[in-house]
Amino acid sequence: MNNLIIKNAFVSTPQGSTALKGAEMGKIRTIKDAAIVITDGVIDYCGPQADMPEIKNPGDYKVVDAKGNAVLPGFVDSHTHLIFGGYRPDEFEWRMKGDSYMSIMERGGGIQSTVNATRGESVENFVKKAQWFINRMSEMGVTTVEAKSGYGLDTETELKMLDAIDRLAKDPEQKLRVISTFLGAHAVPKEYKGRTAEYVDHIINDMLPVVKGKAKFCDIFTEKNVFEIEDSRRLLKAARECGFELKLHADEIVTLGGAELSAELKATSADHLLHVSDQGVKDMAEAGVVATLLPLTAFTLKEPYAPARKFIDSGAAVALATDLNPGSCFSGSIPLTIALACIYMNMSIEETITALTLNGAAALGIADKTGSLEKGKAGDVIILHYDNFRMMPYYVGMNCVKTVISKGRIVTENN
Ligand code: NIG
Ligand code: FE
Repeated sequence: MNNLIIKNAFVSTPQGSTALKGAEMGKIRTIKDAAIVITDGVIDYCGPQADMPEIKNPGDYKVVDAKGNAVLPGFVDSHTHLIFGGYRPDEFEWRMKGDSYMSIMERGGGIQSTVNATRGESVENFVKKAQWFINRMSEMGVTTVEAKSGYGLDTETELKMLDAIDRLAKDPEQKLRVISTFLGAHAVPKEYKGRTAEYVDHIINDMLPVVKGKAKFCDIFTEKNVFEIEDSRRLLKAARECGFELKLHADEIVTLGGAELSAELKATSADHLLHVSDQGVKDMAEAGVVATLLPLTAFTLKEPYAPARKFIDSGAAVALATDLNPGSCFSGSIPLTIALACIYMNMSIEETITALTLNGAAALGIADKTGSLEKGKAGDVIILHYDNFRMMPYYVGMNCVKTVISKGRIVTENN
């Protein structure tokens, strides 16, 4: 039984079971001298310590003294490419010398180069490598992570990637919750070069029926010269028919209309959005599609940051995630994500916390289960080294997380 009482907490949390939109994102409930009671992994009580209900079997509970430090919901990293073969440090250097992400991809590098290194890799190796990244994420306070397939681009390897994600998710010792996404439309593989529509047909006719039920979401790289709007619409509609919820990599490199498409299809989220149009912002806000912004990718690609303020001021829900992947953004740094969001995207620290917790959970369709510290939610909690969450962006790029609790179990201690 994962029973835990956290005492002397300075609780700071967004509230609710759905994404917070617009000005609501800035509303963080703070409770000084608070206690949290977690019974069997679920929050029973979160409120003033003085009002804490009597515990029937106190001997069954472990007690943690937060010593007045800030206590927040665990972070939700709702966009990662956690499973991949090899690394691409050479491309990083080419980009630093002026090469562009898309020109490397068009020459057969980029995603295809990771596909070459991923095909033939064993499920065991995927799991081992991903677990290492997960352990690092846990140290930074992540209690839920999304993981995509998308470096197989053939049925066999896509299935192996999803199998690895499933094994990570089901490991009883796992430090965090893992949510899976099928990204068979991450790029057009070399064997289909110049035949994009045929590859989309192949995904629809041959892959979707096989991966059906093995991932919660279906995602696509909707981009000029990759999968453009018509092919994206076709694939996403077919995926929905198969029971997948929808996500898009949208308007990352150029303005193409991926945001508008996400609204039309009522996707759960559209992600990246560095080059989103004003219409796209408006459509997403109206349709209630979560705008998942990935500042580490903009930073790494030296691209302009996504217009977080425009989204929030238009009444949209913004989530933040890392986009950890071996190419455009080889970083899973939550501390740097927080710093970039506050410094360059002009998000307040309150909005940033909501974006990394409740709205991240909403981007994964689990805002009723995690993302805030409230009765009935999972006991996914982090305790900071400091008595104030405002230390997080100020201590630029540095980890402020001390203790990480996942479903009522202490999984990481940074002393
Ligand atoms: O989210 N842009 C598409 N997909 C990833 C990058 C994948 C890669 O470069 O390996 C992204 O940026
Ligand atoms: Fe991505």
